[in-house]
Amino acid sequence: MTVVAFPKLDHVADPNVAANRDFWEKYIWPDGGDEWSRPWGTPDAMWLTSIYPRLARFMPTGHILEIACGFGRVSNYLRYFADRLTLVDLAPKCIAACKERFAREKHVEYHVNDGRSLEMVADSSVDLAVSWDSLVHTEHETVREYLRQLRRKLRPGGVGFIHHSNLGMQWDQIRDEVEKHTLGGRRPSMTAEKFRKDAAEFGVRVLSQELLPWTEPGLYCDCFSLFMRDEGDPATWPAPRLEVREDWGREVAAGKLIGDLYRPPARIE
Ligand SMILES: C[S@@+](CC[C@H](N)C(=O)[O-])C[C@H]1O[C@@H](n2cnc3c(N)ncnc32)[C@H](O)[C@@H]1O
Repeated sequence: MTVVAFPKLDHVADPNVAANRDFWEKYIWPDGGDEWSRPWGTPDAMWLTSIYPRLARFMPTGHILEIACGFGRVSNYLRYFADRLTLVDLAPKCIAACKERFAREKHVEYHVNDGRSLEMVADSSVDLAVSWDSLVHTEHETVREYLRQLRRKLRPGGVGFIHHSNLGMQWDQIRDEVEKHTLGGRRPSMTAEKFRKDAAEFGVRVLSQELLPWTEPGLYCDCFSLFMRDEGDPATWPAPRLEVREDWGREVAAGKLIGDLYRPPARIE
């Protein structure tokens, strides 16, 4: 569970990008990002039970783009499922760490970006775009801008999976009592509905969305959006499937249990 003390953002001219870069450059990364896998017990359990099942139909594949890779917690698995893996993050520290971590991997490329641009990625070149546990901290404008560009960066038929904030959906209910809630840096400007509206504007087909109570029961602050570049007529696209996952906590707990039960015994020194 991502629960970080997020800085107050209102003193920065451009809170969205500048504050994120500043925060993640200063963040000490005590366990290389694995600290956020603790609800699952291990990053392996998180990947195997919560990420892999959602991406399995789209991998292995040619070119995977990961946006906001951090220290490579998810890239460490994605690298086995792509001929080519492109990692993008706005924090130079993160890209430096990934370069070191994956130094032996000749099929991984790295880009520090400005927190918005995907210009370093060729149009129509991406089979699968992934962002996990990162764009929850960015404003609507940033997610929208990435989605706008992904319409071009995905190859026809290419798929995107983006984990973003949905805090705006319940913001009016909690805004006067935010101190009673665990927000983990989620941004209230973003919602699943805005994602669907942006996708419709850009001609991106949304396949499904899961609304997730990531930080506390009943607060659907996160969303996984699955989408694709569909060259067909948008008028023929069925409405995306929307799931309100009140059982998300149980999914994570089950992942932890499986990870705990099915592993080699600890070595006895
Ligand atoms: C909570 S960390 C998660 C990193 C990684 N996805 C993981 O699961 O371990 C958030 C990451 O998002 C990056 N980030 C935040 N805003 C971004 C933006 N607008 N564009 C690209 N990266 C961004 C930060 O630099 C940081 O590496």
